[in-house]
Amino acid sequence: MTAQKLEKLQEQVKKLDSISTAPVILQPLLEILRMPAEKISFDKVVELVSYDGAIAAQCLRMANSPLFGCREVETVRAAVMALGLQRVRSMLFGLCINRVIPKDKWVFEPVAFWRHSLGCALVTQRMAQRIGYAEPEKAYLGGLLHDLGILVNSLLCTKDFRKCLQSATEQRRALHLCEEEILGFTHCESGKMLAEHWGLPRDLSDVAYGHHNVELLPAPQPLVCLVHLGDLLCRVRYLGYGYDEIMGMELGGELAWQTLAKTHPALADMDLARFTMDIDGAMEQIVATVDAVFGTAQSAASK
Ligand SMILES: [Fe+2]
Ligand SMILES: [Fe+2]
Repeated sequence: MTAQKLEKLQEQVKKLDSISTAPVILQPLLEILRMPAEKISFDKVVELVSYDGAIAAQCLRMANSPLFGCREVETVRAAVMALGLQRVRSMLFGLCINRVIPKDKWVFEPVAFWRHSLGCALVTQRMAQRIGYAEPEKAYLGGLLHDLGILVNSLLCTKDFRKCLQSATEQRRALHLCEEEILGFTHCESGKMLAEHWGLPRDLSDVAYGHHNVELLPAPQPLVCLVHLGDLLCRVRYLGYGYDEIMGMELGGELAWQTLAKTHPALADMDLARFTMDIDGAMEQIVATVDAVFGTAQSAASK
């Protein structure tokens, strides 16, 4: 990206909060996203969910859905308890972003975008647990937020970004390659800018920046490597961006794999076939969460 383009994009990202009608929960939610899992206060999350009637209702509905509802859940506190902080945090983030992006600016099918983000969060976290990565919760968050740049591009350059998606779909290529050609920058660059603008921890902005190409960072980091692999696995398991990519994948040949294997030897012993079956088993959870965010069981189930 040229210096001029970079500067212009940075200016636009800074203005994002004012051009979109950012919901009141965005700032307190960002605070929660910045915090390590063990420091998050349960009461603070309950308070945040209670702020907004629609969000509270969606949480209650999800807690009472067959997937979680073993008993009647009637209060927000009980709903947050039943769902768990991690799931509520993802839901809040999804609902919040959903309001930040007006309907006509969504270049991706929102359901496809959230299924990919949640899919990547779950797959990355499970892989982190399997190989003994110290912060599986961080891995989840990295997966959830890795494609923030897609939201930035949808908002700031809707028309041209639509061309990128169209071209990627027609050629069945990776989106970031088409972005490079058409926009002159990728969602990795714009995602890093938004992560920095929001004050998210450095390792999460590194994920946004390096998830398609771990070599972009001075030293490949385990978290970025994990999300890179999680993203690839989702895309080959039809949890991509709503179109089929032609992808040759030999995980062992990936720099991310080799880097991780050095610090986490358990990776070499991982049974990939079993692991991908396990991912398929997580689909129900993904669909339920996306459904709670959109409140449309039908659209989530039909994709
Ligand atoms: Fe991406
Ligand atoms: Fe992705």
